[in-house]
Amino acid sequence: MKSKIETLKSQLLKALKAAKSDSEVRDLEVRYLGRSGKFNEIMRSLKDLSDEAKRTVGKLANMTKTELEVIVQKKYAELEMAAFDVIADKEWMDVTVPGTKPGVGHRHLISKFIEDLEVVFGRMGFAVAEGPDIETEHYNFDQLNMPADHPSRDMQDTFWVKNLKKMVLRTQTSPVQIRHMEAHEPPIRVISLGKTFRKDSDATHSPMFHQCEGLMVGEDISIANLKAVMTNALQQIFEDPAIKTRFRTSYFPFVEPGLEVDCTCPICHGEGKTADGVPCRLCKQCGWLEIAGAGMVHPKVLENVGYDSKKYTGFAFGMGLDRMVMIKHRVNHLRLLFENDLRFITQF
Ligand code: PHE
Repeated sequence: MKSKIETLKSQLLKALKAAKSDSEVRDLEVRYLGRSGKFNEIMRSLKDLSDEAKRTVGKLANMTKTELEVIVQKKYAELEMAAFDVIADKEWMDVTVPGTKPGVGHRHLISKFIEDLEVVFGRMGFAVAEGPDIETEHYNFDQLNMPADHPSRDMQDTFWVKNLKKMVLRTQTSPVQIRHMEAHEPPIRVISLGKTFRKDSDATHSPMFHQCEGLMVGEDISIANLKAVMTNALQQIFEDPAIKTRFRTSYFPFVEPGLEVDCTCPICHGEGKTADGVPCRLCKQCGWLEIAGAGMVHPKVLENVGYDSKKYTGFAFGMGLDRMVMIKHRVNHLRLLFENDLRFITQF
């Protein structure tokens, strides 16, 4: 009997060791320790033994059974822990790892440049004026003293709006000058930035481009003021206090005299070649860059908006922004600015 108990015990221990699931353990538990299990079988067969043997064997059987019941409970706990380990392996997370930043993007180079210009001119007292992208012929041309036969009005240059007579995608930001003067009295100091449109499309022209217009009108405003404002602005824009400007005569119907504003090349600093002697490709070695059209507001334009042209004078300028952005960020193809290729955009 004693050895039978020992055998049952070692059988159960061995089987428990091999058991891999709750149900296997439960099975063993029932078979060995259950009501009609192997241990109770032994208990029932005790009745055939002597009193002495009943006591000792019964005691041993009871103790062993209790001992095994504890071991079975331990096995359940072990299996449960193992199951947790599997889950922990699969579903763990390290709360100390820094999070992944969502891609929030950033402003386009041109939008950023526009904001920078608002700050630069804002420091000199210029406010920002706005006008519509779709303009009337009246504001885009007539009021600016551009006669019907002016080349800018040519079908080749201008996007006319179909079925809307006399409406155009503005070819310049200059109509904002007129709109602003009509609504305000001098002194005036404004810039206006935004999209402009012309039927040009090649390596260096896009049908949609950006301009910055400037207008200052008051008593005794002269070309000297224009020179000071342009020079200061360009020095700030290109972050180079050594930048100089020069004026050449030119023609725009809404200014008199009309000027072309050049600035010293921000790449070669007006030398025509870089510090290590390489010929400057940006300015084609001449040391100057054409940067804006400008001039003193034509008396006829002032009269068109009801100003007294004997009392007031003013200057205006208009510059293309896209090429300036390209120069500032060393971008060598215009189309990169408008293709929105992430490989390009994410560099800034
Ligand atoms: N509007 C002119 C252009 O687009 C530029 C300009 C603006 C010239 C203001 C003189 C004064 O070419």
